[in-house]
Formats: sequence, C-alpha cells, structure tokens
Amino acid sequence: MNIFHTIKEIKAHIALLRKEGKTIGFVPTMGALHEGHLELVRKACKEDDVVAVSIFVNPIQFNNPEDLVKYPRTLESDIKKLNATACSIVFAPAVEEMYPEPDNTEFDFGKLDKVMEGEFRPGHFKGVGIVVKKLLEIVEPTRAYFGEKDYQQLVIIRYLVKSLAIPVEIVSCPIVREPDGLAMSSRNSRLTPEERALAPDIHDALNRIKENYTWFTPDGLGKMIIGDIEQNPLFRVEYAEVADAETLMPFFDWEDAEHAVLCVAVVLGQVRLIDNVLLY
Ligand code: PAJ
Repeated sequence: MNIFHTIKEIKAHIALLRKEGKTIGFVPTMGALHEGHLELVRKACKEDDVVAVSIFVNPIQFNNPEDLVKYPRTLESDIKKLNATACSIVFAPAVEEMYPEPDNTEFDFGKLDKVMEGEFRPGHFKGVGIVVKKLLEIVEPTRAYFGEKDYQQLVIIRYLVKSLAIPVEIVSCPIVREPDGLAMSSRNSRLTPEERALAPDIHDALNRIKENYTWFTPDGLGKMIIGDIEQNPLFRVEYAEVADAETLMPFFDWEDAEHAVLCVAVVLGQVRLIDNVLLY
C-alpha cells in the first residue's frame, strides 16, 4: 500500500501511473471505513487498473462543531481494511495540507443545495463541493465512486462535475445495509445499544411504504412517514421528503416525475441518521 500525506507526493505517483496508461479509480471518504465504503472500493477495483482512496475528515463540511469533534478517526484500522482489497493508494492529508489558506470557493448548485440536507445543514454542500473538486484535481481519476446513501450529495457532485467540465466519470453504488436493514454509516458507532436496536425502524418504515406509495400523494407520503417514524418518541424526524430523483424538487402528482426518491433525516439520541429509498 502506498500511503501519501502530501499533494505533491500523490500527484507524482499518479502521474507515473497515467504515463503507463493505467486507469485510476478514486473513492473519496472521511474514513472510519465500513462495508459501504469497501463496496465502493471493490467496485472500483473491478473497473479500474489502480484504485486510490482518500481519507480526510473535511472540517468545512461540518455545520455542527460537535459532530466534527466526535467524528471517528481510525486511520490505522482503515488501512488494514483497505489492505484486504486491491486498493493500492491511500491519500490521508492533514487539514493544513488541504487548506493552507481558507478556501472560499462559491458554487452555484441551483436549487439542488437548498432542499433537504442543504436546508438543515447550511454550508454543508459548499464544503463538500470544495473538497471534492480539490480531490478530483489532485487525483485526476478516470472514475470516481459515490454511494447512494448520500443521495443528494451524489446528485450535487454529478452537477458539479458537469458544470465545471471535470473530466471524470461519476459512478454510483447502492446503499449497503446491516443485516437488520440499518444503512451503514460511520456515525452508527455513536448510537447507544438501545438506540442501535431502534435504528432499523427507519429503513423498515421506508421499505414498507415502497410497495404502497401510490395510496398517498407525494406530499402526503412524506408526512405519513414522519408520523410513522415518530411513533417512537426517541426519534425526531428533521425531514421526510419525496423528491424528483434527478432535480431533487418536490412534485405534486406521481406522473410529474420520471423517478422519485424518498429521503429522510432522523435524529436519534446524539446522532443524525440519513436514509433514502428509490420509489420508482
Ligand atoms: P463518507 O461519509 O465517508 O462517505 C464516503 C462515500 O461512501 C460516500 O460516497 C458515501 O455515499 C459512501 N457511503 C457511505 N455509507 C454508505 C453505505 N451504507 N452504502 C453505500 N455507500 C456508502 O460522503 C463523504 O464521506 C464526504 O462527504 C466526502 C464525499 C468524502 C467529501 O468529504
């Protein structure tokens, strides 16, 4: 495994691989790797000659300072997990390496960052946009892999890459879940045992409705899901929204969207969980 901490070193290494005509697959992460991340890595290993993973807890995408402090940092065990895959490059820069000066790049994501996560986490997608653009410029991958777990992030990154004409193919991967249905997340480790036992209720509620969504209007479905999840007072739903899967905009009749996604954010104890299901 080649582990790099500086931009200069990884750029030099990748330049050599490019010269040899190798395709580069890239999986950006914030570490605390789990099977969800590793599925992205395995997919990249199948499709690309060389795979690079970045591990960087990006401070500027955290709107909640406590969340940033408590975010798990487990570089050593992350590298062990990656050693068991065909990934051969890890990029783990320090904050000063990525941001020697404050980066205030502004993006125009249209309405994509005004809804859902964008509404509840002000500045989050600006921070994601800055770091992903920077990482793509450093690694210059052939393909970059993102999970559908962060559905809005995926849509925004596709938009970013298209609008800035960054020459990379964005590949998406389905949500990887625990056997009981809970979407894997680095934040799950912060749930108490009692909360962890309850957490699969979120996916259960989404899954139940997938079969019968046409019984409701798109707006009514969101409201119904909130009531369903909040039956247990330990859950507080921040949002549950049916959105057009391409534009992320709400719509009024099922015929108005070619594909629809139901996205939720739920606070359980000290942890904020997100999940989604593609309805059609
Ligand atoms: P992080 O939360 O570490 O996630 C890294 C990638 O793994 C993202 O593309 C995310 O969607 C994907 N992922 C996480 N859990 C998953 C699951 N259960 N199933 C499938 N994919 C999953 O997302 C970020 O980091 C950051 O915002 C980042 C893009 C690295 C920018 O800092």
